[in-house]
Amino acid sequence: MLPTVVLTHKLPPDWISSLDGRVQAYSGPTDADKLAPELEAFLPDAEGLLSLLTVPIKEELLARMPKLRVVSNMAVGVDNIDVAACTRRGIPVGHTPGVLTDATADLTMGILLSAARRLPEAARDASEGRWTTWSPTGWLGADLRNKVLGIIGMGKIGQAVAERAAGFGLKIIYRNPSHLPLVEAQFAAEYASFDELLHRSDIVSLHCPLNVETQHLIDDSALRKMKSTAILVNAARGPVVRTDALVRALQEGWIAAAALDVTDPEPLPPDHPLYGLENCLVVPHIGSATHGTRKRMAEIACENMLAGLDERRLLHCVNPEVETKI
Ligand code: GLV
Repeated sequence: MLPTVVLTHKLPPDWISSLDGRVQAYSGPTDADKLAPELEAFLPDAEGLLSLLTVPIKEELLARMPKLRVVSNMAVGVDNIDVAACTRRGIPVGHTPGVLTDATADLTMGILLSAARRLPEAARDASEGRWTTWSPTGWLGADLRNKVLGIIGMGKIGQAVAERAAGFGLKIIYRNPSHLPLVEAQFAAEYASFDELLHRSDIVSLHCPLNVETQHLIDDSALRKMKSTAILVNAARGPVVRTDALVRALQEGWIAAAALDVTDPEPLPPDHPLYGLENCLVVPHIGSATHGTRKRMAEIACENMLAGLDERRLLHCVNPEVETKI
């Protein structure tokens, strides 16, 4: 008998072909924002769960999956999962770091540049008939060379952003749980305290995981410490920023602009005030959305799944203490 595996979402067959003949897979719909009701019947027998970041994997769900032996998230972030609860149950949790680093760093530079040069506003004005001449003072944006980019969270993605930003002549300062001497040498980057980074940065870019320490890190007080000309970029997780505070900051000019790949809540309701602000660019959590990256993420998620079912070490496990018991 093949082990039962629940996939919270339907994924393209060629992304998950390594599961063929190895598991009995049951998938939810492509666009589910929670566990689809039709999957409920398979929970009691499921030995594996392959999840996307939109589905919370908490005690309540785990309690209904008594045979569960591995959770595999097709994402690098695992803030949708109660990892401690999985650990208590001896369940390894897999994720997909590394493969999405370049795509997410590229997207970060894309939205950073868009905000700095006001591309959405300029494109809208052009297509809606407001481009009447070459205006010497129209659509003026920010220069980047010699400006300060403050990176909060200098992990793989933060470093990949630093690498790209260096090419634009940006000076890098960073905040991280630990000093990273090699990174400092590689990007001429300077370690800064949180307050110093907020005060000095022309652009603040968030690349930290969401956890109890980083939730609402960027609140009213942090936004008020930023330059009035500064741009905030968030390609990490929405709740790292307090949304109501950001709305106030953008409306009242505490900062100049924001570029967001992630929001809180996610998605934002269509009538959300952030959508009405010229100085706020919102894209729908597409940091890793390239053909190659998403396929590779799914392939790694399947590799983690199969390893867990075979009681082998996962390729990438966030609670390896569980695996040492294997
Ligand atoms: C995407 O946001 C991820 O965590 O992989």
